[in-house]
Amino acid sequence: MNPESYKRRNNILIINTKHYEKATGKRSYEFFAGLPDMNAFKGWEIDYAVGAYDLHIADQFPAKSFYSQHVDPIGYGAFTGKISIEMLVDSGIRGSLINHSEFRLNFETIEKVVSKARSMDFEVIVCAENLDEVTRFAKTGAPLVAYEPPELIGGNISVSSARPDIIEKAAAVCENNGVKLIVGAGIKTHNDILTSLKLGAVGGLVSSGVVLASNPAVAITSLINN
Ligand code: G3P
Repeated sequence: MNPESYKRRNNILIINTKHYEKATGKRSYEFFAGLPDMNAFKGWEIDYAVGAYDLHIADQFPAKSFYSQHVDPIGYGAFTGKISIEMLVDSGIRGSLINHSEFRLNFETIEKVVSKARSMDFEVIVCAENLDEVTRFAKTGAPLVAYEPPELIGGNISVSSARPDIIEKAAAVCENNGVKLIVGAGIKTHNDILTSLKLGAVGGLVSSGVVLASNPAVAITSLINN
């Protein structure tokens, strides 16, 4: 996707499956089979961020949109345990998160990944833990920054109810830099998503509220449609 077209995107819901057992490895096919395709909801884009071991799933679900949970600034070659943008592109993976608070990178690596991704029209979403990081990462040239306060991740208090002021400031910083903002941590309800959008984000990054729900498909529908 060309960087210019990122700027037109809105209403994005990214489900990060993390390393939760029910969505991982031999269980991943069954998990994704019941979940909505990328354009299942009018005006919304649904994406799934999966671990390295599950990237192959993209082949089996061409109507779904998959991201990687991480990518390294390397190409094909003698690297062990790494993930290249080249391999992700060849595998039909749309983009990648980087610097998630559960997989932090140094700033130099973030800059290298963003720069390589731009040159390959590959979408990278840089995760930020606070406003200072949002400000720093918004200047790297990444098309999207994801603000996730680590202390709220996995809990029941959402970023939109606990940090509305930061979301608003982060959205302004991103807009000034031509970047879009998504937010995550503790998002469980339609109201959490709606509030995030009203505060200036273009979407949400959600994990436990969907993956650990008794019915993940219903959880996605409820987040979008109430
Ligand atoms: O990447 C999404 C994530 O860190 C948020 O997790 O479980 O709070 O939705 P969760």
